[in-house]
Amino acid sequence: MDIFLEWVGSTVFMSRREATEVFSEWAEKGKDKGMENGHAASVHAMLKLAGIPRSETYSAVDVGCGNGWVCRLLAQDGTSTRVVGVDGSEAMIAKAKTIDSEGDYRVTVLPDWEPSEKFDFVHSMEFLYYLHDPQSMLKQLHDNWMNSGGMLVAGVDHYLENEDSLSWPEALNVHMTTLSMEDWKTAMIEAGFRDVELHQVAAKDSFIGTLVMCGKKA
Ligand SMILES: C[S@@+](CC[C@H](N)C(=O)[O-])C[C@H]1O[C@@H](n2cnc3c(N)ncnc32)[C@H](O)[C@@H]1O
Repeated sequence: MDIFLEWVGSTVFMSRREATEVFSEWAEKGKDKGMENGHAASVHAMLKLAGIPRSETYSAVDVGCGNGWVCRLLAQDGTSTRVVGVDGSEAMIAKAKTIDSEGDYRVTVLPDWEPSEKFDFVHSMEFLYYLHDPQSMLKQLHDNWMNSGGMLVAGVDHYLENEDSLSWPEALNVHMTTLSMEDWKTAMIEAGFRDVELHQVAAKDSFIGTLVMCGKKA
């Protein structure tokens, strides 16, 4: 019986599609624009929490950048000196480069890639929970992607308290790591972040809001 359950479990696991493959299809069908519109209210609130626009210069990276729309927003901020977008979907990055041939967009499947430079601001919207171990990604971001004094602001809509989101892994047939708000806060602290704050932004009707985690590197 145990072997049977193990086989069923691994079959279900193996039949899950890679998130990057699904989002490449979305990019090819033009669904990236709808996602951009759908995330806009949350991202604007997140950038406000990050103190953007800023009066001091800063470098930034958007992790899981999709078609790169947040990179282009950051590039419009007169004090951003360098903006990089990374995503594991080739079609999303191709779309980003088509829209903005001057932008720095890279195909990088995470967590198996690290930048050769560090950033003052790390942004991420609706990316972390696609990973099997988002907690260790947070630690990697803290240790290897950020300058001292840098800030991370990351948003997730799939989390335990957002009950409407709990059906998404089955609906999309994609792995999602379901963490509670407390789990995310613990993960941020254990990753080494200081001044950790959680916010729920852009709540509307039955949507309880994007869970935003903010933290600084000492
Ligand atoms: C829900 S979309 C969000 C895109 C963008 N942040 C936005 O708000 O429009 C999630 C993005 O994460 C990317 N992604 C998922 N898993 C990834 C992985 N393991 N490595 C790199 N990118 C990944 C997908 O390709 C997709 O573009």
